[in-house]
Amino acid sequence: MSDIKSIEEFNKKIKRVIVSKEEIETAIQTAAEKINGLYDGRPILLVSILKGAFVFMADLCRAVTVPCEIGFMCAKSYYNGTVSTGDVTVTMDLDQDVSKYHLVIVEDIIDTGRTLSDVVELLRARKPLSLTVVTLLDKPARRKVDFKPDLALFTIPDYFVIGYGLDCGEYFRNLPYIAEYDEEA
Ligand code: IMP
Ligand code: MG
Repeated sequence: MSDIKSIEEFNKKIKRVIVSKEEIETAIQTAAEKINGLYDGRPILLVSILKGAFVFMADLCRAVTVPCEIGFMCAKSYYNGTVSTGDVTVTMDLDQDVSKYHLVIVEDIIDTGRTLSDVVELLRARKPLSLTVVTLLDKPARRKVDFKPDLALFTIPDYFVIGYGLDCGEYFRNLPYIAEYDEEA
């Protein structure tokens, strides 16, 4: 829930566009071509981590041309201070047997890296045929655990961003571009 009560308050929070709709489209086409080349006709399972990656997933899956299945997963990681307790709670799991697939994890943003490093560890333990991580956005300045995606469409500075699936208080996911959120407005 957000405390935004009107369209005026909503619009004021959108400080400036960081990545336009057109730039996203172009980058997705390039990323899809890389994925097509990497798997060379072999079937893949695209796995989106909810909720933030649902928009990216919808566009990316329509740009890849290799046979693909889609899957969704909801996961939360728990930390004792800055150290992972190693506990990832999966609130909604994949329904596929991961050991039969080439996995492509589709994420919205990698910030501290904690969630995705835990999810990757958990999925690797299920012995997929291969595993690749694709993220729409990467914020390496805020990394707390050593984690590098195989493919990042955009690397951004330490801004809090909204739109194209990313939220603040559950709002703004429906913006067709990525914008900086205005904390002060
Ligand atoms: P990490 O575990 O710190 O890498 O956090 C990953 C999750 O935090 C992402 O999947 C997002 O849901 C959320 N997040 C991190 N940075 C932002 C941001 O700038 N805008 C919106 N959500 C964010
Ligand atoms: Mg996410």
